[in-house]
Amino acid sequence: MKEQLEEIRRRALDELTDGASDQQIEAVRVRVLGRSGELTEVMRGMREVPQAERPAIGQLVNQIKRELEERIEALKLRLRQGALERSLAEARLDVTLPGARVPRGRIHPVTQILERMLDIFVSMGFEVAMTRDVEDDFHNFEALNFPPDHPAREMQDTFLVGGGLLLRSHTSNGQIRVMEERKPPLAVVCPGRCYRRDELSVRASPMFTQIEGFMVDRVGRITMGHLKGVLIEFLRAFYGPETGVRFRSSYFPFTEPSAEVDIHCLLCKGAGCRVCKHTGWTEILGCGMIHPNVLRAVKLDPEEFQGFAFGFGVERPALLKLGVDDMRLFFENDLRFLAQFPSLAGGAA
Ligand code: PHE
Repeated sequence: MKEQLEEIRRRALDELTDGASDQQIEAVRVRVLGRSGELTEVMRGMREVPQAERPAIGQLVNQIKRELEERIEALKLRLRQGALERSLAEARLDVTLPGARVPRGRIHPVTQILERMLDIFVSMGFEVAMTRDVEDDFHNFEALNFPPDHPAREMQDTFLVGGGLLLRSHTSNGQIRVMEERKPPLAVVCPGRCYRRDELSVRASPMFTQIEGFMVDRVGRITMGHLKGVLIEFLRAFYGPETGVRFRSSYFPFTEPSAEVDIHCLLCKGAGCRVCKHTGWTEILGCGMIHPNVLRAVKLDPEEFQGFAFGFGVERPALLKLGVDDMRLFFENDLRFLAQFPSLAGGAA
């Protein structure tokens, strides 16, 4: 039995040469050490071995087992190291290769237009104040002199949030919020999102962006003339120095007198076309002198203070300026669309 074991060991070690492949090593392991391998077979024959010799044989079996296992482990380790070295040598890294391009994000076109507009106002001395989207009836309507039964308060137009709150239907709440906190002189623009229960369509969206602007100072210091000056300056800076501008009298509860401002249709330059319904003009904003009741609502004495306010949507000018013909594109966030406006603000693509 002892000779038989020595024979198994010798044969196994002969085969476990330094150059043995993975498969060869595995074949030896299964044949000798496997569950029905040669060593197991030998152990089965133990019954025939005289009692006195059994411990020595058992020891020998274990010793051979350990010896072979160690040899196999060592050979496998060598194989693994060799494979690693080879793959490192083959897959040499060229650190001078250009890297994979990381797609760069862009500012949304509406935000770019908004920022350009704000820049113009800032250049005229206005400061920018953000107010809130979720508002109460007082700041969105009541303080702005909306009569209690004004149609704009109807659920039809305004999203009600519950608990007496609503989503602001215009940025005019910015006038109230700022004037509640700070005393004139004030020259402020309030950009922000507004919400109305409109269907999303080519020309309208239930969520849109507005810029509110206002200027307040002591009576006599700020007139309708300043309002016209600021707006004409802004419109010519934004749409171009030749842009035709006209003021039409209008009505808003929170301004008196009120006006709407039209600019020459950008497409036909005033000649009249389908887009401007052959009028040659496009309505662009609302404005007026702040109503005395609005000043009273923020505890300013209208005998003492006076000012103007204006407000307009950003998406429509953005459509005109960018030559986009469908408002919905601004809100779908399709990268194929957004990627077409790489550097409006002069930044890199
Ligand atoms: N809030 C008005 C609107 O949403 C615009 C406006 C603002 C008009 C300020 C006059 C003064 O249509």
